[in-house]
Order: sequence, then C-alpha cells, then structure tokens
Amino acid sequence: MEQHNEIKVFEPTADTDIKVWFKAAPVHAFPENGGACVKYKDLQIAVFNFSRRGEWYACQNLCPHKMQMVLSRGMIGSLDGKPKVACPFHKKTFSLTTGECLNAEECSISVFPVRIEDGFVHIGFTQ
Ligand code: FES
Repeated sequence: MEQHNEIKVFEPTADTDIKVWFKAAPVHAFPENGGACVKYKDLQIAVFNFSRRGEWYACQNLCPHKMQMVLSRGMIGSLDGKPKVACPFHKKTFSLTTGECLNAEECSISVFPVRIEDGFVHIGFTQ
C-alpha cells in the first residue's frame, strides 16, 4: 500500500528535538512489510514499510548483540499490538517505537521518526 501526500509522524523517545528531515528515498524503494537500509552521514538506518499496519518505522541498522549491520533484514511483527523487529541472526527483538530490547538484556537501539511526504520517506534526526 503506497501512501502519497500523507504526513505520518512517529515520535521516538521523549525530548527528541528533530532538526533535520532527511529525504531518504521514494516509498516504492522499500518492500511491503519489509525493510531496507539507507545511509545518513555515517549512520546506517533501517527503514521499515510496515504496510500491514499502514505504518513506517526507522531504527539503527546495527544490532547491539554482536554488532552486526543487519536489522533492516529483520522480521517485523507485533507484540501486544506494538511494532517490533527481530534480528535475523539470533532473534533478539526490539520495539520499533521505543527501541528497547524485548526478549533479552541487550542494550536498546535508537529509533527515529518517519514521515511520508509527496511519495518520499523522510527520517528525522537531531543533527
Ligand atoms: S547479532 Fe542480532 S541478535 Fe545476534
């Protein structure tokens, strides 16, 4: 499901002060119900087109478990109605709204707000 001209914002953790909306790529560059990786400065960002929910999410691509750049290839799903991604390597699972690890003691990950505007995915950063 493509969403054009619709602005949808998911706020990450509190106190985030978005200064840059990075125009990442057109929405059709992201597979439905899957993820793809984009680069912003020296960061790899996993972007998820969660079309089953009609939502988009972004988080760091780096899995903190074994420091692998793999989260964009993770499986997305819902836990108690909340969106999550499971790392493809050892299935550590992270909330896509708060970044917290949901099934282990791993560190949390950074999540970023996403908005869709004029058919493009924009990701919000604080710098
Ligand atoms: S590297 Fe991601 S769960 Fe192990």
